Amino acid sequence: MTMLKGKTVIVTGAAGGIGRAIAEEAGHAGARLALVDSDATRLEQTAMEIRANGVAVLSLVVDMTDRLLWQESIDDIATEFGSIDVMVNNAMWVKYEPIAEVQEDVYRRQMAIGLDAVYWGVQAVTPHMIAQGSGSIVNMTSPASVHGIPNGSVYAAIKGAISALTRQCAVELGQKGIRVNAVAPGPMPTPGTMSVVDEQGWEKRLATSPLGRLSTPEGVAKVVVFLASDAADCVNGDVLFADGGRSISKM
Ligand SMILES: NC(=O)c1ccc[n+]([C@@H]2O[C@H](COP(=O)([O-])OP(=O)(O)OC[C@H]3O[C@@H](n4cnc5c(N)ncnc54)[C@H](O)[C@@H]3O)[C@@H](O)[C@H]2O)c1
Repeated sequence: MTMLKGKTVIVTGAAGGIGRAIAEEAGHAGARLALVDSDATRLEQTAMEIRANGVAVLSLVVDMTDRLLWQESIDDIATEFGSIDVMVNNAMWVKYEPIAEVQEDVYRRQMAIGLDAVYWGVQAVTPHMIAQGSGSIVNMTSPASVHGIPNGSVYAAIKGAISALTRQCAVELGQKGIRVNAVAPGPMPTPGTMSVVDEQGWEKRLATSPLGRLSTPEGVAKVVVFLASDAADCVNGDVLFADGGRSISKM
C-alpha cells in the first residue's frame, strides 16, 4: 500500500489498542511515524515491532496533559522529519460512573487528555501544516457524541466537543489546505475499554450490532488511513461512523 507514502504521521495513544493498529496500518501505507504515548514500556514495544517492518519510527514518551511538553514535542517531530502531514488524535483515558459519583480529579483527567490535549495539539501542529500548505487531521470521536451511554457523561461530553471541534477546524483550516475529519468507532475490546466494560456489557453491545460483530482496531485503522490520505481529498469536517451501523439501529 502507498496511500501515505513519504508522509509524516503523528499517532497519539499509539502504545496499544486502536492507536497501535493505526500506527501499523499507516506504516504499512508508507508513512514515517511519530508515535506518542505516556506508557513508555508499551510504546517502545510497539515502536520496535513496527520498525522491524522497515518503517521509520520516532517514539516520544509524553504526558500530553502537560501542554508545553506536548506542544514542544510536536515542534521536535517537525524538526526531526522536516514536515508533519497527518495528525491522528487518538489518546484517551476513560472512567464510566454515574454523574453523582464523578470526582473532580477523574473529570479533569479525562478532559485533560480527551479534549485539552487535542485542542493544544491542533494549535501546535497547524503552523507546520500551514507552512507547507497541506495537512490532514483525524480525531477519534465516538457514537457517544450523538447518543447517551450508561454512566459515560464525561466521555460523552468530551466526544461531543471533539466532533464539534472537528467541524470548526474543518471550516477554519480548510482554506489553508488542511482537512479535518473524525472517526467514531463502534465498541471493541482494547486495554482502555476492558477496564470499563464487563462481560455483560460486551454481550449487550454484540447483541445490538446489525453486523452481528464488534468493530476491530484493524478495521478502524483502515478508515483512519483513508481519511488521512489524499484518497479522501474532498472529505472535510465529516464524522465517519465505523460502528457497523450500531448507532443508527433500533436493535
Ligand atoms: N475502544 C473502543 O471501543 C472505542 C470506541 C469509540 C471510540 N474510541 C476512541 O478511540 C480512541 C482509542 O481508544 P482505545 O480503546 O484504543 O484506547 P486505550 O485506552 O486502549 O488507549 C489509549 C492510549 O492513550 C494513552 N494515554 C492515556 N493518557 C495519556 C496521556 N496523558 N498522554 C499520552 N498518552 C496517554 C494510553 O497510554 C493508551 O496507550 C479513544 O479516543 C477512544 O475514545 C474507542
